[in-house]
Amino acid sequence: MLRRLYHDQPESFAFTPANQAWAEAQITKYPEGRAQSAVIPLLWRAQEQEGWLSRPAIEAVSDMLGMTYIRTLEVATFYFMFQLQPVGAIAHVQVCGTTSCMICGAEDLIAVCKDKIAANAHELSADGNFSWEEVECLGACANAPMVQIGKDYYEDLTAEKFGWILDELAAGRVPTPGPQNGRYASEPLSGLTSLKDHEAGRDELNASARLATDIGDTVKRIDGTEVPLLAPWGKQSGAEAASAAPSTPAPAAEPAPAPQPAATPQTQAETPAEVEESEPELLSAPRDGREADDLKKISGVGPKLEELLNSMGFWHFDQIAAWGPSEIAWVDARLKFKGRIERDNWVAQASELAGS
Ligand code: FES
Repeated sequence: MLRRLYHDQPESFAFTPANQAWAEAQITKYPEGRAQSAVIPLLWRAQEQEGWLSRPAIEAVSDMLGMTYIRTLEVATFYFMFQLQPVGAIAHVQVCGTTSCMICGAEDLIAVCKDKIAANAHELSADGNFSWEEVECLGACANAPMVQIGKDYYEDLTAEKFGWILDELAAGRVPTPGPQNGRYASEPLSGLTSLKDHEAGRDELNASARLATDIGDTVKRIDGTEVPLLAPWGKQSGAEAASAAPSTPAPAAEPAPAPQPAATPQTQAETPAEVEESEPELLSAPRDGREADDLKKISGVGPKLEELLNSMGFWHFDQIAAWGPSEIAWVDARLKFKGRIERDNWVAQASELAGS
């Protein structure tokens, strides 16, 4: 695919003060004369700030790193991670269309994009909030079909679940990333047959999905209002690292500590307050000899969770639809994770399913 600069370019580009400090701190990671090694992080930061990479942004990064414009342009046009035209204000969806995903339903996902977003790739939705494109293998073939949205992978998708994810994003919510069919990671769908010891007491989410969920840094842009911005190789803020840099270049061999899950205002606001527990309606079996509802239709509930919910006494959508905050607190306390019921909006989903 030919990747060219967009025909309609802004007049100028400037990093926000916080992003500027972060960018300057990145440059201090490299020995003198090697500043251009920071080209990808800086282009990425510019894209996170603006949503896409404009010509002025590419030129501003070139100037910071002392690179000729053509060299920076080569990097920006080579990697598909860089968007060279405006993308949706809420999210840009990258649908994997390579072999595994194609066999397992990528075309159905693309049909959802055409239906809910826009008829053509790289076209903005009517409200400007979404855009999409088909990309090559994203390395999650065992969980095909899948899409990347922002920084997260949504895997083991069906057209129905993918459509629901887009609806949730449009409503301002971020569904839990990772496998969407109840799988923990990429183990066999029927469950493990060996090496099962680690299953006991493990988190409901795999480590990638847990980190993404805890940080809350997924589809949102880095607009410079986040605090604190940490230089990734130390505990300084970007501004502190940048001001310390000229006299004391950072030792290149120092290992990078694990990323700090910064407590952004957004994640703090999302921390649920303690709510008193109250036991919801529990049933020892499905009502009146009826079949149990297929609780797996609730996005975020897979075969194992359904089994667990059944064993706790939940068989019908209307039982879940009736949960209020105290009932959710009761269920939360008895599952191996907290917050997923609200994050994935089980109650609203169940109430819709109960009425259908
Ligand atoms: S084929 Fe889709 S992730 Fe590899």
